[in-house]
Amino acid sequence: MTLEIQTEHDLSGFNTLRLPCVAARYVAPTDPGVLTSAIALARRNDWPVLVLGGGSNLILGERLDGLVIQPAFQRWQLEPIRKGRVKLTVEAGMNWHRLVMAMAEQDLWGLENLALIPGHCGAAPIQNIGAYGVELSDILDAVHGVDLQEGCEVVFSRDECAFGYRDSIFKHAMEGRVAITHLELSLSTQAQPKLEYGDLARRVGNEPTPLEIANTVIATRQEKLPDPAVLPNAGSFFKNPVVNAAKADRLLSKYPDMPHFPQSPGEIKLAAGWLIDQCGLKGYRKGAFGVHEKQALVLVHRGGGSAQELMVFADGIARDVLERFGVVLEKEPRAIGLHPT
Ligand code: FAD
Ligand code: EPU
Repeated sequence: MTLEIQTEHDLSGFNTLRLPCVAARYVAPTDPGVLTSAIALARRNDWPVLVLGGGSNLILGERLDGLVIQPAFQRWQLEPIRKGRVKLTVEAGMNWHRLVMAMAEQDLWGLENLALIPGHCGAAPIQNIGAYGVELSDILDAVHGVDLQEGCEVVFSRDECAFGYRDSIFKHAMEGRVAITHLELSLSTQAQPKLEYGDLARRVGNEPTPLEIANTVIATRQEKLPDPAVLPNAGSFFKNPVVNAAKADRLLSKYPDMPHFPQSPGEIKLAAGWLIDQCGLKGYRKGAFGVHEKQALVLVHRGGGSAQELMVFADGIARDVLERFGVVLEKEPRAIGLHPT
């Protein structure tokens, strides 16, 4: 396998917000050996590296200098480990949703609630993807990768990943430091339905299979989330804010219907979509960007806009929420290659 670096590579079709972006250099290694060579080349030349997956959680500025590496290896393998448990090893370039469906079709439990999350498996640990009451950390055993500074192989156990809500070590001490090559997950052959989120339990039969749950999650998501192939977006644009109990109580006395979800003792998660919705911003449009009509947490790009304009649009929404509720919203997607405004 050879290292084929492309120059001046157009990334506008490689990010689900469809923001215009050109990478000075781009490579899509089809095996881990080529990935290691690409990293060595970047280290020799002092090129900053961006590891790209499906581009569904990124706000890309118009130009990325350095090297963009998009792992394209995508094998997966199952191995029984003990009674009722199966070890799944999957490479970074595999499409996450395709993996979920392949496991559900084999009647393996663990991934079904995470159906239809866009992107590649290698990105899943970065923000500890989660949906419908399940997070990646519930089923992940280890993350393997290559250290971008040292060029050596690294392994992180689940504990070492320091997972939290939309959070991991890869957003802190190890931010931008590791190219993830493969994941080890642990699935179950025995029924373990997780149906506590929203109306999931009501929407499935009595003894649902993983496939039935995955298909129900897909249908639920399709009712409110826009398909990025049709209407460019990055899913939730802000994280759901976590506030202390005193702050939540103050808001609840004024807004008794406000959705709220107790987390660790004294911490309450609020629904950012509800807060934005209450500001009357659902369906609001300005220039190339808008707040989705069915899910106020999703910002959509209607074409012709730039990352800078998107940031200004998003900051305006966060400002309205802060003024009305006193709650700070933090962006979920990672912004890269943007000039400070
Ligand atoms: P990218 O956007 O390409 O990259 C995201 C980050 O991961 C970047 O920092 C990138 O550098 C890093 N990265 C990517 N690959 C690697 C690698 N191999 N090694 C090291 N770093 C890497 N997220 C949820 O948690 N729950 C949801 O329900 C959900 N729903 C969504 C719905 C829609 C319609 C959309 C568009 C997005 C949604 N997301 C959701 C966000 C997104 O799908 C996830 O964050 C996903 O894991 C991003 O994967 P990606 O391959 O597209 O990553
Ligand atoms: N809500 C409104 N108006 C809106 C949107 C939401 O009132 O416009 C209310 C809903 O009625 C509900 C609450 O807010 O009471 C929560 O809404 P929903 O169940 O749709 O989930 P969410 O909090 O908006 C989160 C994740 C999603 C994930 C879903 C399902 C975050 C930032 N977002 O959204 O993840 O799919 O739950 O688990 O945690 C993503 O991260 O990109 C993403 C899509």
